[in-house]
Amino acid sequence: MNSPLKGKNIVLGITGGIAAYKSVVLLRLLVKAGADVQVIATPAALEFVRPVTLSALSHRPVVSEFFTANTGEWHSHVDLGLWADAMVIAPATACTLAKMATGVADNMLVTSYLSTRAKVFAAPAMDFDMMIHPTTQRNLATLASDGVTLIDAESGELASGLTGKGRMAEPEEIVAALENWFLQESGKGLLAGKCVLITAGPTRERIDPVRYIGNFSTGKMGYAIAREAARQGAHVVLVSGPTALKIDNPDVEVIHVESAREMLGAVENHISGCDVAIFSAAVADYAPRQCAEHKIKREKDTFSSIELERNPDIAATAGKSRKPGQFMVGFALETDNGLENAKAKLKSKNMDMIVLNSLADKGAGFGTDTNKVTLVGPSSTTELPLKSKNEVATDIIAAIAREIDTESTM
Ligand code: C5P
Repeated sequence: MNSPLKGKNIVLGITGGIAAYKSVVLLRLLVKAGADVQVIATPAALEFVRPVTLSALSHRPVVSEFFTANTGEWHSHVDLGLWADAMVIAPATACTLAKMATGVADNMLVTSYLSTRAKVFAAPAMDFDMMIHPTTQRNLATLASDGVTLIDAESGELASGLTGKGRMAEPEEIVAALENWFLQESGKGLLAGKCVLITAGPTRERIDPVRYIGNFSTGKMGYAIAREAARQGAHVVLVSGPTALKIDNPDVEVIHVESAREMLGAVENHISGCDVAIFSAAVADYAPRQCAEHKIKREKDTFSSIELERNPDIAATAGKSRKPGQFMVGFALETDNGLENAKAKLKSKNMDMIVLNSLADKGAGFGTDTNKVTLVGPSSTTELPLKSKNEVATDIIAAIAREIDTESTM
């Protein structure tokens, strides 16, 4: 599957912030996705990245001034604005955002912004105090209401030494935002024609007819992934443990199961027809060796221990007998040594990607509406900021689609 950016004309606006070094990677990713990219750099941006790097990667001279000083060659911002299918300004400094919001057209980038009819994205990056200043917030609100899609800055350590919100979103995330927009525009999806199997929710392991061993998983993450996969054109088989959640979508076939063994059975019945499998369920590791036929009575006082047996590892079982071309994703919820454990799981379960959640991160894990994950592949690790589970689902599906695309073109 090709990236929706293939053949698209993209103006990449780079402004003068330290995050400009990440724009080099962004440029590389856009070109790799098949886009034709014209860089417009503000003079301040060229203090951070050299034109030769940008022109070598984009295969086009970098535009920065209205005309080339020694030849007088005029660069038409109107032509560039009309050429673009989309414009992405990354990093977008407080200064450029202010100029865009108020129409201060004193450089090539802002004049091109005012001239374009194309969709515009901006990835703000600045110091924490500048970001939270009412002026910046007002300008961001103006731009959002003008139709600019803002790719939110992340929190973390800033070049100033301060810690807070202000780091530019990762290049992969910016590419995903563009890809998603083009897909929505084209009416197709990143996973059109694919079958995606997803396990979600907890499992319940019966002790007797009224009691079980379970866990606090609500299924929110798995259901969000199922919705997003369907939105991206996939047929989804959602194997769900007991949850309060509902999905009403003709492209999502829900199979309700209770125990790990039932979940394994459902996965084994459906996996052969699927291109992608995502194991997001919180499967109970152990089940009672026997389920009592009748409710165990407290009065009889014979119930002092439960004999347990290990449940099958559904992801590992599927990973072991996978068909060529199938792409498999597991989850890992870790309290410590997250990355190391995720990499080990990648191998032991024969997965292509592990979505790592750390219970140490506030707002991540069971029951919350937000999650903070790191996508771990055999040769790459992408740490995503805290986001809503729906946004995390969008990122996971976009990352899977990119990987499938790369594999099929190798
Ligand atoms: O080994 P651990 O439980 O940390 O692995 C988590 C991953 O393995 C998740 O993707 C989970 O859905 C899957 N898993 C499974 N069957 C089990 C245990 C975990 O599919 N019995």
